[in-house]
Amino acid sequence: MENLQDLQNEILTAVASASDLKKLDEVRVAAMGKKGSITEKMKSLGSLPLEEKIAAGKELNLLKTAVEKAIEERKTYLETEELNRRLARESIDVTLPARPEIQGRIHPVSKIYEEVVAIFGQMGFEVAEGPDIEDQFHNFNALNMPADHPARQMQDTFYIPNPDSDNFDDSFVVRTHTSPVQIRTMENKKPPIRVIAPGRTYRSDYDATHTPMFHQVEGLVIDKTTTMAHLKGCLYDFVRAFFEIDDIKVRYRPSYFPFTEPSAEMDIGCRKNKDELKIGEGDDWLEILGCGMVHPKVLAAGGLDPDEYQGFAFGMGIDRLAMLKYGIPDLRTFFESDLRWLKHYGFVPLDESSMTGGLSNNGGLAR
Ligand code: DAH
Repeated sequence: MENLQDLQNEILTAVASASDLKKLDEVRVAAMGKKGSITEKMKSLGSLPLEEKIAAGKELNLLKTAVEKAIEERKTYLETEELNRRLARESIDVTLPARPEIQGRIHPVSKIYEEVVAIFGQMGFEVAEGPDIEDQFHNFNALNMPADHPARQMQDTFYIPNPDSDNFDDSFVVRTHTSPVQIRTMENKKPPIRVIAPGRTYRSDYDATHTPMFHQVEGLVIDKTTTMAHLKGCLYDFVRAFFEIDDIKVRYRPSYFPFTEPSAEMDIGCRKNKDELKIGEGDDWLEILGCGMVHPKVLAAGGLDPDEYQGFAFGMGIDRLAMLKYGIPDLRTFFESDLRWLKHYGFVPLDESSMTGGLSNNGGLAR
Protein backbone atom coordinates (compact mmCIF):
# COMPACT_ATOMS: atom_id res chain seq x y z
CA MET A 1 0.00 0.00 0.00
CA GLU A 2 1.61 3.25 -1.11
CA ASN A 3 1.70 6.70 0.48
CA LEU A 4 1.06 5.54 4.05
CA GLN A 5 4.02 7.50 5.32
CA ASP A 6 2.75 10.65 3.56
CA LEU A 7 -0.71 10.09 4.99
CA GLN A 8 0.66 9.65 8.48
CA ASN A 9 2.74 12.85 8.21
CA GLU A 10 -0.26 14.72 6.92
CA ILE A 11 -2.54 13.58 9.76
CA LEU A 12 0.06 14.11 12.48
CA THR A 13 0.69 17.64 11.22
CA ALA A 14 -3.04 18.32 11.34
CA VAL A 15 -3.22 16.94 14.88
CA ALA A 16 -0.29 19.06 16.02
CA SER A 17 -1.80 22.22 14.60
CA ALA A 18 -5.36 21.66 15.91
CA SER A 19 -5.73 24.73 18.12
CA ASP A 20 -8.70 23.61 20.19
CA LEU A 21 -10.65 20.46 21.10
CA LYS A 22 -13.27 21.04 18.44
CA LYS A 23 -10.69 21.27 15.65
CA LEU A 24 -8.90 18.22 17.03
CA ASP A 25 -12.11 16.25 16.82
CA GLU A 26 -12.57 17.33 13.22
CA VAL A 27 -9.10 15.95 12.47
CA ARG A 28 -10.02 12.68 14.20
CA VAL A 29 -13.22 12.34 12.16
CA ALA A 30 -11.37 13.15 8.90
CA ALA A 31 -8.92 10.32 9.62
CA MET A 32 -10.91 7.69 11.47
CA GLY A 33 -14.57 8.58 11.04
CA LYS A 34 -16.89 6.58 8.79
CA LYS A 35 -15.47 8.22 5.69
CA GLY A 36 -12.07 9.03 7.15
CA SER A 37 -8.84 8.62 5.20
CA ILE A 38 -7.64 5.70 7.35
CA THR A 39 -11.06 4.07 7.31
CA GLU A 40 -11.12 4.23 3.52
CA LYS A 41 -7.75 2.54 3.35
CA MET A 42 -8.99 -0.16 5.72
CA LYS A 43 -11.97 -0.77 3.45
CA SER A 44 -9.71 -1.08 0.40
CA LEU A 45 -7.78 -3.91 2.06
CA GLY A 46 -10.48 -6.33 1.02
CA SER A 47 -9.56 -6.12 -2.66
CA LEU A 48 -5.89 -7.00 -2.11
CA PRO A 49 -4.31 -10.43 -2.50
CA LEU A 50 -3.81 -12.24 0.82
CA GLU A 51 -0.04 -11.63 1.22
CA GLU A 52 -0.36 -7.92 0.58
CA LYS A 53 -3.45 -7.72 2.72
CA ILE A 54 -1.55 -9.00 5.76
CA ALA A 55 1.38 -6.66 5.26
CA ALA A 56 -0.78 -3.62 4.52
CA GLY A 57 -3.12 -4.43 7.43
CA LYS A 58 -0.16 -4.43 9.78
CA GLU A 59 1.06 -1.10 8.46
CA LEU A 60 -2.38 0.42 8.66
CA ASN A 61 -2.77 -0.72 12.23
CA LEU A 62 0.55 0.87 13.11
CA LEU A 63 -0.59 4.07 11.45
CA LYS A 64 -3.88 3.99 13.30
CA THR A 65 -2.19 3.44 16.65
CA ALA A 66 0.25 6.29 16.01
CA VAL A 67 -2.58 8.65 15.09
CA GLU A 68 -4.67 7.64 18.09
CA LYS A 69 -1.75 8.22 20.38
CA ALA A 70 -1.01 11.62 18.87
CA ILE A 71 -4.67 12.65 19.19
CA GLU A 72 -4.79 11.52 22.82
CA GLU A 73 -1.64 13.47 23.68
CA ARG A 74 -2.85 16.58 21.89
CA LYS A 75 -6.17 16.28 23.70
CA THR A 76 -4.51 16.15 27.11
CA TYR A 77 -2.35 19.10 26.16
CA LEU A 78 -5.30 21.20 24.96
CA GLU A 79 -7.38 20.32 28.04
CA THR A 80 -4.58 21.34 30.38
CA GLU A 81 -4.11 24.54 28.47
CA GLU A 82 -7.82 25.30 28.64
CA LEU A 83 -7.86 24.62 32.38
CA ASN A 84 -4.85 26.88 32.95
CA ARG A 85 -6.48 29.61 30.90
CA ARG A 86 -9.66 29.26 33.00
CA LEU A 87 -7.78 29.32 36.26
CA ALA A 88 -5.95 32.45 35.21
CA ARG A 89 -9.22 34.05 34.09
CA GLU A 90 -11.05 33.17 37.32
CA SER A 91 -8.25 33.87 39.75
CA ILE A 92 -9.17 36.03 42.71
CA ASP A 93 -6.91 37.93 45.00
CA VAL A 94 -8.04 36.73 48.42
CA THR A 95 -5.91 39.37 50.09
CA LEU A 96 -8.10 42.18 48.75
CA PRO A 97 -10.56 43.71 51.26
CA ALA A 98 -14.24 42.78 50.85
CA ARG A 99 -16.27 45.27 48.90
CA PRO A 100 -18.32 47.20 51.48
CA GLU A 101 -21.54 47.15 49.48
CA ILE A 102 -21.68 43.37 49.48
CA GLN A 103 -20.24 42.72 52.91
CA GLY A 104 -22.42 40.54 55.13
CA ARG A 105 -23.12 41.17 58.78
CA ILE A 106 -23.05 39.01 61.88
CA HIS A 107 -26.48 38.94 63.53
CA PRO A 108 -26.51 40.25 67.13
CA VAL A 109 -27.74 36.86 68.36
CA SER A 110 -24.72 35.15 66.76
CA LYS A 111 -22.49 37.82 68.23
CA ILE A 112 -23.79 37.32 71.78
CA TYR A 113 -23.59 33.55 71.26
CA GLU A 114 -19.90 33.91 70.37
CA GLU A 115 -19.28 36.21 73.32
CA VAL A 116 -20.92 33.84 75.80
CA VAL A 117 -18.99 30.87 74.43
CA ALA A 118 -15.73 32.87 74.57
CA ILE A 119 -16.24 33.82 78.23
CA PHE A 120 -17.32 30.39 79.49
CA GLY A 121 -14.83 28.70 77.19
CA GLN A 122 -12.03 30.50 78.95
CA MET A 123 -13.42 29.32 82.29
CA GLY A 124 -13.10 25.76 81.05
CA PHE A 125 -16.70 25.07 79.98
CA GLU A 126 -17.47 22.87 76.98
CA VAL A 127 -20.38 23.50 74.61
CA ALA A 128 -23.12 20.84 74.79
CA GLU A 129 -26.07 20.38 72.45
CA GLY A 130 -29.49 18.77 72.46
CA PRO A 131 -32.33 18.42 69.96
CA ASP A 132 -34.89 21.17 69.33
CA ILE A 133 -37.65 18.55 69.29
CA GLU A 134 -37.68 16.96 72.72
CA ASP A 135 -39.65 14.29 74.51
CA GLN A 136 -41.55 15.33 77.60
CA PHE A 137 -39.24 13.30 79.82
CA HIS A 138 -36.23 15.48 79.04
CA ASN A 139 -38.10 18.76 78.73
CA PHE A 140 -40.27 18.33 81.85
CA ASN A 141 -40.38 15.12 83.91
CA ALA A 142 -36.65 14.67 84.43
CA LEU A 143 -36.46 18.32 85.46
CA ASN A 144 -38.80 17.62 88.35
CA MET A 145 -41.91 18.71 86.48
CA PRO A 146 -44.25 15.70 86.39
CA ALA A 147 -47.38 15.85 84.22
CA ASP A 148 -49.56 17.44 86.89
CA HIS A 149 -46.93 19.94 88.01
CA PRO A 150 -48.22 23.53 87.96
CA ALA A 151 -44.90 24.72 86.55
CA ARG A 152 -45.87 23.17 83.24
CA GLN A 153 -48.40 25.95 82.88
CA MET A 154 -45.59 28.50 83.35
CA GLN A 155 -44.51 27.81 79.82
CA ASP A 156 -46.78 27.98 76.79
CA THR A 157 -45.63 24.82 75.15
CA PHE A 158 -45.92 23.85 71.48
CA TYR A 159 -46.73 20.14 71.41
CA ILE A 160 -46.00 17.87 68.46
CA PRO A 161 -48.09 14.70 68.00
CA ASN A 162 -46.28 11.41 68.25
CA PRO A 163 -47.15 9.37 65.13
CA ASP A 164 -46.70 6.14 67.12
CA SER A 165 -48.98 6.97 70.04
CA ASP A 166 -52.33 8.59 70.80
CA ASN A 167 -51.38 9.11 74.40
CA PHE A 168 -50.81 12.82 75.01
CA ASP A 169 -47.99 12.06 77.45
CA ASP A 170 -46.04 10.56 74.55
CA SER A 171 -46.32 13.64 72.36
CA PHE A 172 -43.17 15.58 71.68
CA VAL A 173 -42.52 19.26 72.33
CA VAL A 174 -40.28 21.86 70.76
CA ARG A 175 -38.13 22.45 73.79
CA THR A 176 -39.39 25.28 75.96
CA HIS A 177 -35.95 25.88 77.45
CA THR A 178 -32.38 24.63 77.12
CA SER A 179 -32.61 22.85 80.51
CA PRO A 180 -33.24 19.39 78.92
CA VAL A 181 -29.61 19.53 77.77
CA GLN A 182 -28.72 19.24 81.48
CA ILE A 183 -30.32 15.80 81.53
CA ARG A 184 -28.83 14.72 78.21
CA THR A 185 -25.38 15.78 79.39
CA MET A 186 -25.68 13.83 82.67
CA GLU A 187 -26.87 10.80 80.73
CA ASN A 188 -23.79 10.88 78.51
CA LYS A 189 -20.99 12.18 80.67
CA LYS A 190 -19.55 11.36 84.06
CA PRO A 191 -18.72 14.25 86.43
CA PRO A 192 -16.86 16.52 86.67
CA ILE A 193 -19.25 18.25 84.27
CA ARG A 194 -18.80 21.82 83.15
CA VAL A 195 -20.92 22.66 80.11
CA ILE A 196 -22.91 25.46 78.56
CA ALA A 197 -25.69 24.70 76.11
CA PRO A 198 -26.69 27.59 73.87
CA GLY A 199 -29.53 27.08 71.43
CA ARG A 200 -33.05 27.69 70.16
CA THR A 201 -36.09 27.45 72.41
CA TYR A 202 -39.81 27.83 71.70
CA ARG A 203 -42.91 29.13 73.46
CA SER A 204 -46.24 30.40 72.25
CA ASP A 205 -45.72 34.07 73.02
CA TYR A 206 -45.47 37.21 70.90
CA ASP A 207 -44.87 40.82 71.92
CA ALA A 208 -41.99 43.33 72.04
CA THR A 209 -39.95 41.13 74.37
CA HIS A 210 -41.20 37.66 73.37
CA THR A 211 -41.05 35.71 70.11
CA PRO A 212 -42.21 32.11 69.53
CA MET A 213 -38.62 31.11 68.83
CA PHE A 214 -35.89 32.59 70.96
CA HIS A 215 -32.47 31.64 72.29
CA GLN A 216 -31.22 30.57 75.68
CA VAL A 217 -27.97 29.42 77.12
CA GLU A 218 -27.92 26.82 79.85
CA GLY A 219 -25.06 26.17 82.22
CA LEU A 220 -24.34 23.07 84.28
CA VAL A 221 -21.51 22.34 86.68
CA ILE A 222 -21.42 19.08 88.62
CA ASP A 223 -18.76 17.65 90.84
CA LYS A 224 -18.54 16.32 94.38
CA THR A 225 -17.96 19.58 96.23
CA THR A 226 -19.47 22.27 93.99
CA THR A 227 -21.34 24.87 96.03
CA MET A 228 -23.51 27.94 95.70
CA ALA A 229 -20.37 30.02 96.31
CA HIS A 230 -18.94 28.65 93.08
CA LEU A 231 -22.17 29.54 91.30
CA LYS A 232 -22.00 33.11 92.57
CA GLY A 233 -18.37 33.57 91.64
CA CYS A 234 -18.79 32.03 88.23
CA LEU A 235 -21.81 34.14 87.28
CA TYR A 236 -20.28 37.30 88.70
CA ASP A 237 -17.21 36.76 86.54
CA PHE A 238 -19.48 36.14 83.58
CA VAL A 239 -21.47 39.38 83.87
CA ARG A 240 -18.32 41.42 84.49
CA ALA A 241 -16.74 40.05 81.34
CA PHE A 242 -19.95 40.18 79.32
CA PHE A 243 -20.91 43.77 80.11
CA GLU A 244 -17.25 44.77 80.18
CA ILE A 245 -17.72 46.56 83.52
CA ASP A 246 -15.24 45.54 86.22
CA ASP A 247 -17.18 46.71 89.28
CA ILE A 248 -20.67 45.83 88.04
CA LYS A 249 -23.30 45.68 90.81
CA VAL A 250 -25.10 42.37 91.20
CA ARG A 251 -27.51 40.75 93.64
CA TYR A 252 -29.09 37.31 93.99
CA ARG A 253 -32.77 37.08 94.92
CA PRO A 254 -34.39 33.89 96.22
CA SER A 255 -36.64 32.41 93.56
CA TYR A 256 -38.31 29.17 92.54
CA PHE A 257 -37.53 26.71 89.76
CA PRO A 258 -38.60 23.07 90.00
CA PHE A 259 -35.19 21.84 88.88
CA THR A 260 -33.06 23.74 91.41
CA GLU A 261 -33.05 23.91 95.21
CA PRO A 262 -32.32 26.50 96.42
CA SER A 263 -33.11 28.69 93.43
CA ALA A 264 -32.17 32.29 92.76
CA GLU A 265 -32.41 35.00 90.19
CA MET A 266 -29.49 37.26 89.45
CA ASP A 267 -29.99 40.98 88.95
CA ILE A 268 -27.51 43.54 87.75
CA GLY A 269 -27.50 47.17 88.86
CA CYS A 270 -28.70 49.75 86.38
CA ARG A 271 -30.14 53.19 86.01
CA LYS A 272 -33.33 53.63 84.06
CA ASN A 273 -33.73 57.10 82.64
CA LYS A 274 -36.50 58.14 80.30
CA ASP A 275 -35.14 56.68 77.10
CA GLU A 276 -31.92 55.29 78.37
CA LEU A 277 -30.75 52.29 80.29
CA LYS A 278 -27.34 52.51 81.89
CA ILE A 279 -26.02 49.15 82.99
CA GLY A 280 -23.72 48.59 85.95
CA GLU A 281 -24.53 51.64 88.05
CA GLY A 282 -27.58 53.29 89.59
CA ASP A 283 -30.23 52.12 92.04
CA ASP A 284 -32.48 50.09 89.77
CA TRP A 285 -32.16 46.35 89.17
CA LEU A 286 -32.52 44.28 86.06
CA GLU A 287 -33.10 40.54 86.19
CA ILE A 288 -30.80 38.68 83.85
CA LEU A 289 -30.83 35.01 84.71
CA GLY A 290 -32.20 32.13 86.78
CA CYS A 291 -29.95 29.76 88.66
CA GLY A 292 -29.64 27.41 91.62
CA MET A 293 -28.23 24.18 92.98
CA VAL A 294 -29.32 21.21 90.88
CA HIS A 295 -32.25 19.43 92.57
CA PRO A 296 -31.37 15.93 93.86
CA LYS A 297 -34.28 14.53 91.84
CA VAL A 298 -32.80 16.04 88.68
CA LEU A 299 -29.41 14.48 89.40
CA ALA A 300 -31.12 11.13 89.91
CA ALA A 301 -33.13 11.50 86.68
CA GLY A 302 -29.86 12.15 84.87
CA GLY A 303 -28.46 8.92 86.29
CA LEU A 304 -26.20 10.46 88.97
CA ASP A 305 -26.20 9.60 92.68
CA PRO A 306 -27.33 12.73 94.58
CA ASP A 307 -25.48 11.49 97.68
CA GLU A 308 -22.25 11.59 95.76
CA TYR A 309 -22.65 14.51 93.38
CA GLN A 310 -23.89 18.07 93.57
CA GLY A 311 -23.67 21.14 91.39
CA PHE A 312 -25.27 24.25 90.02
CA ALA A 313 -27.19 25.27 86.93
CA PHE A 314 -28.21 28.51 85.32
CA GLY A 315 -30.21 29.66 82.34
CA MET A 316 -30.53 32.95 80.53
CA GLY A 317 -31.98 34.46 77.39
CA ILE A 318 -29.43 35.22 74.68
CA ASP A 319 -31.74 37.58 72.79
CA ARG A 320 -32.48 39.46 75.98
CA LEU A 321 -28.75 39.84 76.58
CA ALA A 322 -28.40 41.21 73.05
CA MET A 323 -31.21 43.71 73.61
CA LEU A 324 -29.60 44.90 76.83
CA LYS A 325 -26.02 45.05 75.64
CA TYR A 326 -26.65 46.61 72.27
CA GLY A 327 -29.72 48.68 73.07
CA ILE A 328 -32.17 46.98 70.71
CA PRO A 329 -35.73 47.80 71.78
CA ASP A 330 -37.95 45.20 70.05
CA LEU A 331 -37.22 41.48 69.99
CA ARG A 332 -39.52 40.81 67.03
CA THR A 333 -37.21 42.77 64.73
CA PHE A 334 -34.47 40.19 65.38
CA PHE A 335 -36.22 37.65 63.22
CA GLU A 336 -37.74 39.78 60.45
CA SER A 337 -34.64 39.50 58.23
CA ASP A 338 -34.79 43.17 57.30
CA LEU A 339 -31.44 43.94 55.69
CA ARG A 340 -31.57 47.57 56.85
CA TRP A 341 -31.93 46.36 60.45
CA LEU A 342 -29.08 43.90 60.04
CA LYS A 343 -26.88 46.61 58.57
CA HIS A 344 -27.65 48.84 61.54
CA TYR A 345 -27.36 46.32 64.36
CA GLY A 346 -25.13 43.70 62.78
CA PHE A 347 -21.41 43.24 63.26
CA VAL A 348 -18.57 43.22 60.82
CA PRO A 349 -17.43 39.66 60.12
CA LEU A 350 -13.91 38.63 61.07
CA ASP A 351 -14.00 40.72 64.26
CA GLU A 352 -13.93 37.60 66.36
CA SER A 353 -15.01 37.70 69.97
CA SER A 354 -12.30 36.58 72.32
CA MET A 355 -11.31 37.28 75.87
CA THR A 356 -7.87 38.45 74.82
CA GLY A 357 -8.66 40.19 71.55
CA GLY A 358 -11.69 42.18 72.71
CA LEU A 359 -15.07 40.71 73.40
CA SER A 360 -17.72 42.82 71.76
CA ASN A 361 -15.40 44.75 69.42
CA ASN A 362 -17.60 47.80 69.64
CA GLY A 363 -15.25 49.40 67.14
CA GLY A 364 -16.51 46.77 64.73
CA LEU A 365 -20.15 47.77 65.13
CA ALA A 366 -21.38 48.20 61.60
CA ARG A 367 -22.88 51.60 62.15
N1 DAH B 1 -35.21 26.95 82.31
C1 DAH B 1 -35.52 28.22 82.94
C2 DAH B 1 -36.47 29.00 82.04
O1 DAH B 1 -36.50 28.76 80.88
C3 DAH B 1 -34.29 29.03 83.17
C4 DAH B 1 -33.43 28.45 84.25
C5 DAH B 1 -33.61 28.80 85.54
C6 DAH B 1 -32.47 27.51 83.95
C7 DAH B 1 -32.83 28.28 86.56
C8 DAH B 1 -31.68 26.96 84.95
C9 DAH B 1 -31.87 27.37 86.26
O2 DAH B 1 -30.73 26.06 84.71
O3 DAH B 1 -31.08 26.85 87.25
O4 DAH B 1 -37.16 29.86 82.50
